[in-house]
Amino acid sequence: MNTNASHGIRINGVSKVFAGLHRPAVDDVSLDIAPGEFMTFLGPSGSGKTTTLSMIAGFVPLTSGSICIDGKDISRLKPHKRDLGVVFQQYALFPHLTAAKNVAFPLQQRSVPKPEIETRVRDALELVGLSDFADRLPRQLSGGQQQRVALARAVVYQPRALLMDEPLGALDRKLRDQLRREIARMHRELGMTFLFVTHDQEEALTLSDRIAVFNNGRVEQVGTPDELYERPSTLFVAQFLGESNVFADDGQAIVVRPERLDLHADPDTVPDACQRRKAVVTEVVYVGNHHRIGLRFADGTEGSAMRLAGAVLPALPGESVVVSWSPSHQVALDQESEPCVEVD
Ligand SMILES: Nc1ncnc2c1ncn2[C@@H]1O[C@H](COP(=O)(O)OP(=O)(O)OP(=O)(O)O)[C@@H](O)[C@H]1O
Ligand SMILES: [Mg+2]
Repeated sequence: MNTNASHGIRINGVSKVFAGLHRPAVDDVSLDIAPGEFMTFLGPSGSGKTTTLSMIAGFVPLTSGSICIDGKDISRLKPHKRDLGVVFQQYALFPHLTAAKNVAFPLQQRSVPKPEIETRVRDALELVGLSDFADRLPRQLSGGQQQRVALARAVVYQPRALLMDEPLGALDRKLRDQLRREIARMHRELGMTFLFVTHDQEEALTLSDRIAVFNNGRVEQVGTPDELYERPSTLFVAQFLGESNVFADDGQAIVVRPERLDLHADPDTVPDACQRRKAVVTEVVYVGNHHRIGLRFADGTEGSAMRLAGAVLPALPGESVVVSWSPSHQVALDQESEPCVEVD
């Protein structure tokens, strides 16, 4: 299966105010999704990810702003006129139709000639690794297989982009990982623009070309996984994406990632050029390939460091250490951001 062209999506100052709510669910969001890009919306529950995706898909009308595909405003088109594939957490397959007939459905609706339907359905099922399951009904398929059928059905008519809202949310860990890899492969093979919504940072970091971090209906930062992790622009992003040590410092906050911290039992071994803080080790937890070392700093804040399994641990729980880091590994941020919201 191949798509001839990739398409760009532009979101211009889009807001959504639901009746009866005081604050906008989506608040002046602007974002460009490049042709062929894998873009992810990441953020805590209620931050406006689904509402934004639904406005792109056409299920929720915009309160203000506009959405363009390849420069054309689609904000007022009906969903089926937008030519976008959509997959939700719930598989939403027709229960009385086989996998093949489910996938054929959007092609029949578009009056595609029968022989072409057969070829395209075969290709789409092959793309998602379900060639041998064409004649099964949804209830004869596992959750992961049903979601593959939903993916095949969403791309079979070669839409301009594929939008996915928590498509792995209902699956157990192992299936999630497997299907996540399949989605990455589909993206490579199709070259199609993908928009993926999740509140799972690992999914976002491993799949995406770029991530838009949502908080309270706004986009806090857009960037590559690496940029967001190494150069967060707000405290919220630093704390939502990965673990951070945050040191208050004169109205600012210094953020350092756990793997950047060195621990010293003897303060004299700290290199002169390094920043330093005193801490007590609160716990040492073995997490497979590394140890997570819990820390309580002198001002009472909690943090953590990381040591690869096999490395010598400089201190045990209850012992004092000096924590150091190179200034080049710290990020200074304003402290204005609200505290991090718990991920569910
Ligand atoms: N149809 C609706 N009517 C009123 N309020 C709504 C409606 N849909 C969403 N909201 C509100 O808009 C805000 C954003 O919701 P949205 O579903 O976009 O969040 P989300 O980021 O997708 O969260 P989750 O990770 O839980 O799916 C929430 O406060 C939600 O309660
Ligand atoms: Mg949602």
